Amino acid sequence: MTKRKLPEELKFIENRQAVQKTTTVSMAGKVCVVSGSTSGVGLAAVKRLARGGAQIVMVCRNPGKAEAIRTEILSQHHVGVDIISADFSVLDDVRKAADLLLKDYPRIDVLINSAGLHSTTRTTTPDGFETVFCVNHLAPFLLTYLLIDRLKQSAPARIIQVNSEGHRFGGLDLNDLNWERRHYMGIRGYGASKVAQLLTTWEFADRLKDSGVTINAMHPGDVKTNIGNNNGPLYRWYLHHIIWRTLKDPVISGEAVFYLAAAPELAEVSGRFFHLTIDEKPAAHALDREKGRKVWDRSMEMTGLIPDP
Ligand SMILES: NC(=O)c1ccc[n+]([C@@H]2O[C@H](COP(=O)([O-])OP(=O)(O)OC[C@H]3O[C@@H](n4cnc5c(N)ncnc54)[C@H](OP(=O)(O)O)[C@@H]3O)[C@@H](O)[C@H]2O)c1
Repeated sequence: MTKRKLPEELKFIENRQAVQKTTTVSMAGKVCVVSGSTSGVGLAAVKRLARGGAQIVMVCRNPGKAEAIRTEILSQHHVGVDIISADFSVLDDVRKAADLLLKDYPRIDVLINSAGLHSTTRTTTPDGFETVFCVNHLAPFLLTYLLIDRLKQSAPARIIQVNSEGHRFGGLDLNDLNWERRHYMGIRGYGASKVAQLLTTWEFADRLKDSGVTINAMHPGDVKTNIGNNNGPLYRWYLHHIIWRTLKDPVISGEAVFYLAAAPELAEVSGRFFHLTIDEKPAAHALDREKGRKVWDRSMEMTGLIPDP
Protein backbone atom coordinates (compact mmCIF):
# COMPACT_ATOMS: atom_id res chain seq x y z
CA MET A 1 0.00 0.00 0.00
CA THR A 2 1.42 3.44 -0.88
CA LYS A 3 1.78 5.86 2.02
CA ARG A 4 -0.36 9.00 1.67
CA LYS A 5 1.74 12.15 1.43
CA LEU A 6 0.92 14.74 4.10
CA PRO A 7 0.47 18.37 3.02
CA GLU A 8 3.53 20.51 3.80
CA GLU A 9 1.84 22.16 6.81
CA LEU A 10 1.09 18.83 8.48
CA LYS A 11 4.60 17.44 8.06
CA PHE A 12 5.21 18.07 11.77
CA ILE A 13 3.14 14.96 12.49
CA GLU A 14 5.65 12.91 10.50
CA ASN A 15 8.67 14.83 11.77
CA ARG A 16 7.81 13.93 15.39
CA GLN A 17 8.63 10.33 14.53
CA ALA A 18 11.55 10.98 12.20
CA VAL A 19 15.11 9.94 12.87
CA GLN A 20 16.87 13.11 13.97
CA LYS A 21 20.27 14.37 12.87
CA THR A 22 23.20 14.60 15.25
CA THR A 23 26.73 15.90 15.22
CA THR A 24 29.79 15.19 17.31
CA VAL A 25 31.62 18.37 16.29
CA SER A 26 33.60 19.94 19.13
CA MET A 27 32.37 23.25 20.51
CA ALA A 28 35.57 23.77 22.53
CA GLY A 29 36.28 27.47 22.95
CA LYS A 30 32.84 28.55 21.76
CA VAL A 31 30.94 30.89 24.06
CA CYS A 32 27.29 29.87 24.21
CA VAL A 33 24.77 32.14 25.93
CA VAL A 34 21.61 30.23 26.88
CA SER A 35 18.46 31.69 28.45
CA GLY A 36 16.04 29.44 30.31
CA SER A 37 18.94 27.13 31.11
CA THR A 38 17.72 26.18 34.59
CA SER A 39 15.08 23.76 33.33
CA GLY A 40 13.81 21.61 30.49
CA VAL A 41 15.04 22.37 26.97
CA GLY A 42 17.57 25.04 27.99
CA LEU A 43 19.00 22.81 30.71
CA ALA A 44 19.32 19.87 28.31
CA ALA A 45 21.01 22.23 25.84
CA VAL A 46 23.64 23.49 28.29
CA LYS A 47 24.42 19.94 29.42
CA ARG A 48 24.94 18.85 25.81
CA LEU A 49 26.95 21.97 24.96
CA ALA A 50 29.16 21.42 28.01
CA ARG A 51 29.74 17.82 26.88
CA GLY A 52 30.76 19.28 23.53
CA GLY A 53 33.33 21.50 25.26
CA ALA A 54 31.53 24.86 25.01
CA GLN A 55 31.91 27.67 27.50
CA ILE A 56 28.43 28.26 28.94
CA VAL A 57 26.80 31.48 30.05
CA MET A 58 23.48 30.77 31.74
CA VAL A 59 21.00 33.66 31.62
CA CYS A 60 18.32 32.87 34.18
CA ARG A 61 15.99 34.31 36.80
CA ASN A 62 16.87 31.96 39.64
CA PRO A 63 20.59 32.17 40.47
CA GLY A 64 20.31 29.54 43.25
CA LYS A 65 18.95 26.97 40.80
CA ALA A 66 21.60 27.96 38.25
CA GLU A 67 24.37 27.61 40.84
CA ALA A 68 23.40 23.97 41.51
CA ILE A 69 23.43 23.24 37.76
CA ARG A 70 26.80 24.96 37.42
CA THR A 71 28.22 22.75 40.19
CA GLU A 72 26.86 19.64 38.50
CA ILE A 73 28.30 20.58 35.08
CA LEU A 74 31.69 21.50 36.55
CA SER A 75 31.85 18.11 38.30
CA GLN A 76 31.60 16.41 34.89
CA HIS A 77 33.24 18.70 32.33
CA HIS A 78 36.25 21.01 32.12
CA VAL A 79 34.35 24.00 30.79
CA GLY A 80 33.50 27.46 32.04
CA VAL A 81 29.98 28.04 33.37
CA ASP A 82 28.94 31.59 34.24
CA ILE A 83 25.59 32.86 35.49
CA ILE A 84 23.82 36.09 34.64
CA SER A 85 20.53 36.95 36.32
CA ALA A 86 17.57 38.31 34.41
CA ASP A 87 13.84 37.99 34.83
CA PHE A 88 12.48 38.08 31.28
CA SER A 89 9.24 39.65 32.45
CA VAL A 90 11.29 42.75 33.33
CA LEU A 91 12.80 44.31 30.23
CA ASP A 92 15.20 46.38 32.30
CA ASP A 93 16.67 43.11 33.58
CA VAL A 94 17.21 42.04 29.97
CA ARG A 95 19.01 45.31 29.20
CA LYS A 96 21.24 44.86 32.26
CA ALA A 97 22.01 41.26 31.26
CA ALA A 98 22.95 42.43 27.76
CA ASP A 99 25.23 45.12 29.24
CA LEU A 100 26.99 42.52 31.39
CA LEU A 101 27.37 40.16 28.45
CA LEU A 102 28.84 42.92 26.29
CA LYS A 103 31.21 43.95 29.09
CA ASP A 104 32.43 40.47 29.99
CA TYR A 105 32.41 38.52 26.73
CA PRO A 106 34.51 39.86 23.85
CA ARG A 107 33.01 37.11 21.74
CA ILE A 108 29.66 35.34 21.70
CA ASP A 109 29.50 32.42 19.28
CA VAL A 110 26.01 31.11 19.97
CA LEU A 111 22.91 32.69 21.49
CA ILE A 112 20.10 30.31 22.43
CA ASN A 113 16.79 31.88 23.45
CA SER A 114 15.00 29.16 25.38
CA ALA A 115 13.32 30.91 28.35
CA GLY A 116 9.57 30.64 27.98
CA LEU A 117 6.26 29.85 29.59
CA HIS A 118 2.66 28.92 28.96
CA SER A 119 -0.04 30.49 31.09
CA THR A 120 -3.74 29.66 31.16
CA THR A 121 -4.55 33.11 32.54
CA ARG A 122 -3.62 36.61 31.44
CA THR A 123 -1.19 38.40 33.71
CA THR A 124 0.84 41.52 33.05
CA THR A 125 4.46 42.46 33.60
CA PRO A 126 5.64 45.53 35.54
CA ASP A 127 5.90 47.31 32.15
CA GLY A 128 2.25 46.45 31.42
CA PHE A 129 2.84 43.75 28.79
CA GLU A 130 0.97 40.45 28.68
CA THR A 131 3.48 38.19 30.42
CA VAL A 132 3.72 35.33 27.91
CA PHE A 133 4.21 37.78 25.03
CA CYS A 134 6.92 39.54 27.00
CA VAL A 135 8.85 36.47 28.20
CA ASN A 136 8.51 34.41 25.01
CA HIS A 137 8.94 37.18 22.47
CA LEU A 138 9.79 40.72 23.64
CA ALA A 139 12.59 39.74 26.02
CA PRO A 140 14.47 37.45 23.60
CA PHE A 141 13.87 39.98 20.82
CA LEU A 142 15.50 42.69 22.94
CA LEU A 143 18.37 40.47 24.08
CA THR A 144 19.09 39.35 20.52
CA TYR A 145 18.95 42.90 19.19
CA LEU A 146 21.32 44.19 21.87
CA LEU A 147 23.82 41.39 21.22
CA ILE A 148 23.72 41.55 17.42
CA ASP A 149 26.90 43.58 16.94
CA ARG A 150 28.86 41.31 19.28
CA LEU A 151 27.59 38.26 17.42
CA LYS A 152 28.64 39.88 14.12
CA GLN A 153 32.10 40.61 15.52
CA SER A 154 32.30 36.94 16.56
CA ALA A 155 31.16 35.58 13.17
CA PRO A 156 30.64 32.83 12.29
CA ALA A 157 27.97 32.90 14.98
CA ARG A 158 24.52 31.41 15.38
CA ILE A 159 21.25 32.36 17.05
CA ILE A 160 18.70 29.69 17.90
CA GLN A 161 15.15 30.60 18.82
CA VAL A 162 13.52 27.84 20.82
CA ASN A 163 10.09 28.30 19.31
CA SER A 164 7.21 25.83 19.10
CA GLU A 165 4.75 23.97 16.92
CA GLY A 166 2.36 25.92 19.17
CA HIS A 167 2.81 28.80 16.71
CA ARG A 168 0.19 26.94 14.65
CA PHE A 169 -2.46 28.00 17.22
CA GLY A 170 -2.08 31.57 15.89
CA GLY A 171 -3.54 34.32 18.07
CA LEU A 172 -1.35 37.22 17.00
CA ASP A 173 -3.42 40.40 16.60
CA LEU A 174 -1.38 43.52 15.89
CA ASN A 175 -4.15 45.64 17.37
CA ASP A 176 -4.16 43.66 20.60
CA LEU A 177 -0.67 42.37 21.37
CA ASN A 178 -1.40 42.63 25.10
CA TRP A 179 -4.73 40.80 25.03
CA GLU A 180 -6.66 43.78 26.39
CA ARG A 181 -9.55 43.50 23.93
CA ARG A 182 -9.94 39.74 23.57
CA HIS A 183 -10.74 36.96 25.97
CA TYR A 184 -7.37 35.40 26.87
CA MET A 185 -6.87 31.78 25.97
CA GLY A 186 -3.62 30.13 27.06
CA ILE A 187 -2.88 28.31 23.82
CA ARG A 188 -3.68 31.38 21.70
CA GLY A 189 -1.58 33.66 23.92
CA TYR A 190 1.27 31.16 23.66
CA GLY A 191 0.70 30.84 19.90
CA ALA A 192 0.76 34.63 19.46
CA SER A 193 4.10 34.92 21.24
CA LYS A 194 5.61 32.19 19.09
CA VAL A 195 4.24 33.64 15.83
CA ALA A 196 5.70 37.05 16.77
CA GLN A 197 9.04 35.40 17.40
CA LEU A 198 8.96 33.55 14.08
CA LEU A 199 7.97 36.64 12.10
CA THR A 200 10.81 38.64 13.65
CA THR A 201 13.23 35.75 13.13
CA TRP A 202 12.77 36.13 9.36
CA GLU A 203 13.35 39.89 9.79
CA PHE A 204 16.54 39.28 11.77
CA ALA A 205 17.68 36.79 9.12
CA ASP A 206 17.29 39.42 6.39
CA ARG A 207 19.19 42.00 8.40
CA LEU A 208 21.95 39.46 9.12
CA LYS A 209 22.39 38.39 5.51
CA ASP A 210 26.11 38.10 4.59
CA SER A 211 27.14 38.97 8.18
CA GLY A 212 28.28 35.45 9.07
CA VAL A 213 25.56 35.28 11.73
CA THR A 214 22.69 32.86 11.19
CA ILE A 215 19.37 32.75 12.98
CA ASN A 216 17.00 29.79 12.98
CA ALA A 217 13.97 28.77 14.98
CA MET A 218 13.11 25.31 16.20
CA HIS A 219 10.46 23.18 17.88
CA PRO A 220 12.32 21.32 20.62
CA GLY A 221 10.18 18.16 20.48
CA ASP A 222 7.26 17.33 22.70
CA VAL A 223 9.20 16.89 25.90
CA LYS A 224 8.54 16.51 29.60
CA THR A 225 9.69 19.73 31.23
CA ASN A 226 8.34 22.18 33.79
CA ILE A 227 6.38 24.16 31.22
CA GLY A 228 2.82 24.74 32.44
CA ASN A 229 3.68 24.05 36.09
CA ASN A 230 2.95 27.67 36.95
CA ASN A 231 -0.77 27.13 36.22
CA GLY A 232 -3.63 26.16 38.55
CA PRO A 233 -4.21 22.74 40.18
CA LEU A 234 -6.69 21.50 37.57
CA TYR A 235 -4.33 22.25 34.70
CA ARG A 236 -1.41 20.73 36.61
CA TRP A 237 -3.41 17.55 37.25
CA TYR A 238 -4.15 17.28 33.51
CA LEU A 239 -0.50 18.06 32.67
CA HIS A 240 0.95 15.51 35.07
CA HIS A 241 -1.56 12.70 34.58
CA ILE A 242 -2.40 12.98 30.89
CA ILE A 243 0.05 15.14 28.94
CA TRP A 244 3.29 14.03 30.60
CA ARG A 245 2.54 10.39 29.70
CA THR A 246 2.87 11.27 26.02
CA LEU A 247 6.04 13.36 26.28
CA LYS A 248 9.68 12.48 25.67
CA ASP A 249 12.89 13.09 27.58
CA PRO A 250 14.23 16.64 26.94
CA VAL A 251 17.60 15.07 26.21
CA ILE A 252 16.36 14.96 22.56
CA SER A 253 15.88 18.73 22.68
CA GLY A 254 19.42 19.22 23.99
CA GLU A 255 20.76 17.05 21.19
CA ALA A 256 18.76 19.00 18.57
CA VAL A 257 19.82 22.41 19.90
CA PHE A 258 23.42 21.19 19.87
CA TYR A 259 23.04 20.05 16.27
CA LEU A 260 21.63 23.43 15.21
CA ALA A 261 24.42 25.22 17.10
CA ALA A 262 27.28 23.09 15.84
CA ALA A 263 26.58 21.16 12.65
CA PRO A 264 28.98 22.28 9.89
CA GLU A 265 26.33 21.66 7.22
CA LEU A 266 24.20 24.42 8.80
CA ALA A 267 26.99 27.03 8.77
CA GLU A 268 25.18 29.14 6.19
CA VAL A 269 21.58 28.10 6.80
CA SER A 270 19.50 30.97 8.18
CA GLY A 271 15.87 32.01 8.49
CA ARG A 272 14.55 28.45 8.72
CA PHE A 273 12.25 26.59 11.11
CA PHE A 274 13.26 23.13 12.31
CA HIS A 275 11.22 20.43 13.98
CA LEU A 276 14.04 19.32 16.26
CA THR A 277 16.62 18.98 13.43
CA ILE A 278 14.32 18.65 10.43
CA ASP A 279 13.69 21.67 8.22
CA GLU A 280 9.94 22.23 8.21
CA LYS A 281 7.46 24.71 6.79
CA PRO A 282 5.78 26.83 9.49
CA ALA A 283 2.09 27.75 9.36
CA ALA A 284 1.17 30.27 6.63
CA HIS A 285 0.32 32.97 9.19
CA ALA A 286 3.91 32.76 10.47
CA LEU A 287 5.25 33.44 6.98
CA ASP A 288 3.38 36.71 6.38
CA ARG A 289 6.30 39.03 5.76
CA GLU A 290 4.22 42.18 5.60
CA LYS A 291 2.84 41.43 9.04
CA GLY A 292 6.38 40.52 10.10
CA ARG A 293 7.63 44.03 9.33
CA LYS A 294 4.82 45.47 11.43
CA VAL A 295 5.58 43.09 14.31
CA TRP A 296 9.23 44.12 14.06
CA ASP A 297 8.29 47.81 14.38
CA ARG A 298 5.94 47.14 17.27
CA SER A 299 8.56 45.00 19.02
CA MET A 300 11.10 47.80 18.60
CA GLU A 301 8.65 50.28 20.13
CA MET A 302 7.57 48.01 22.98
CA THR A 303 11.16 47.21 23.95
CA GLY A 304 12.18 50.87 23.78
CA LEU A 305 14.60 50.34 20.90
CA ILE A 306 14.98 53.13 18.37
CA PRO A 307 12.71 52.52 15.39
CA ASP A 308 14.26 51.74 12.02
CA PRO A 309 14.98 54.88 9.89
N1 LIG B 1 8.44 21.24 26.55
C1 LIG B 1 8.00 21.17 25.31
O1 LIG B 1 7.49 20.14 24.84
C2 LIG B 1 8.10 22.37 24.43
C3 LIG B 1 7.48 22.32 23.18
C4 LIG B 1 7.57 23.41 22.34
C5 LIG B 1 8.30 24.52 22.72
N2 LIG B 1 8.88 24.57 23.95
C6 LIG B 1 9.64 25.78 24.29
O2 LIG B 1 10.82 25.46 24.95
C7 LIG B 1 11.26 26.58 25.74
C8 LIG B 1 11.67 26.08 27.10
O3 LIG B 1 10.54 25.54 27.75
P1 LIG B 1 10.63 24.19 28.58
O4 LIG B 1 9.67 23.24 27.99
O5 LIG B 1 12.05 23.81 28.74
O6 LIG B 1 9.99 24.67 29.96
P2 LIG B 1 10.59 24.80 31.43
O7 LIG B 1 11.13 23.49 31.88
O8 LIG B 1 9.52 25.41 32.23
O9 LIG B 1 11.79 25.81 31.23
C9 LIG B 1 11.54 27.16 31.00
C10 LIG B 1 12.76 27.97 31.31
O10 LIG B 1 12.44 29.35 31.12
C11 LIG B 1 12.71 30.05 32.33
N3 LIG B 1 11.79 31.15 32.53
C12 LIG B 1 10.43 31.12 32.64
N4 LIG B 1 9.95 32.35 32.90
C13 LIG B 1 11.03 33.16 32.98
C14 LIG B 1 11.21 34.53 33.25
N5 LIG B 1 10.18 35.34 33.56
N6 LIG B 1 12.47 35.04 33.22
C15 LIG B 1 13.54 34.27 32.96
N7 LIG B 1 13.44 32.95 32.73
C16 LIG B 1 12.20 32.41 32.74
C17 LIG B 1 12.56 29.02 33.44
O11 LIG B 1 13.22 29.45 34.60
P3 LIG B 1 12.97 28.74 36.03
O12 LIG B 1 13.80 27.49 36.02
O13 LIG B 1 13.45 29.75 37.00
O14 LIG B 1 11.50 28.45 36.12
C18 LIG B 1 13.21 27.82 32.76
O15 LIG B 1 14.62 27.93 32.84
C19 LIG B 1 10.08 27.54 25.78
O16 LIG B 1 10.35 28.63 24.92
C20 LIG B 1 8.92 26.71 25.26
O17 LIG B 1 7.96 27.49 24.63
C21 LIG B 1 8.80 23.52 24.81
